[in-house]
Amino acid sequence: MEGNKIPQHVAIIMDGNGRWAKRKKMPRTYGHLEGIKRVDEIVAAARRMGIKFLTLFAFSAENWDRPQKEVHMLMSALARSLESKVKDLDKAGIKFQVIGRAEGVPERLLKSFRVAEEKTKNNAGMTLNLAFNYGARQEIVDAVKQICERVKKGKIALHEITEEMVGNALYTKGVPDPDLLIRTSGEQRISNFLLWQLSYSELYFTPKY
Ligand code: IPE
Ligand code: IPE
Ligand code: MG
Repeated sequence: MEGNKIPQHVAIIMDGNGRWAKRKKMPRTYGHLEGIKRVDEIVAAARRMGIKFLTLFAFSAENWDRPQKEVHMLMSALARSLESKVKDLDKAGIKFQVIGRAEGVPERLLKSFRVAEEKTKNNAGMTLNLAFNYGARQEIVDAVKQICERVKKGKIALHEITEEMVGNALYTKGVPDPDLLIRTSGEQRISNFLLWQLSYSELYFTPKY
């Protein structure tokens, strides 16, 4: 990116909650609560800067391997936070969308996702994609299945499959690829995030938790 051009789409792997809390001699869950507060600030800043799409990685398809208590705490804290913020998101003209599989996600959280999506679906200010129970490989598998189904039904021929068609079968359909990926906490990995979409994105890793 040259000069002070504002990226259209920024994706963030929000990592380091646990280590941040540990450094403060606090439980990991405290780190998650603090992390959720940072989300508000990031969303507000992105909107102010005129970023059109912001995608935040909140929970990966692999994060179910964590202690059950931590998973449960994260889910209920997120549901509570989202329920209390839908109005503000809507007022700010933000369109909220979730990307990821619904399977396994508690009903209350799914409901808060649905309510927020429904209430903000006509907003055009900024699109906030929350990657939840998201895994890029799973997303690609789902896309492959969707396309195979269409081939099987004779709606398209094998040779008609294009990159564009694959892109449109992903959860991020309609969202341009990220210009910039940020990962906090010093880890320099993609961790199964937006594998297809990050092909040409700039990557920025910061040691900050
Ligand atoms: C990111 O912080 C939040 C989630 C993955 C839900 P971590 O919980 O991964 O924090 P670290 O990496 O253990 O410090
Ligand atoms: C990736 O972070 C997922 C989120 C930030 C939501 P992790 O902390 O789960 O990733 P790994 O296990 O270190 O690769
Ligand atoms: Mg981590």
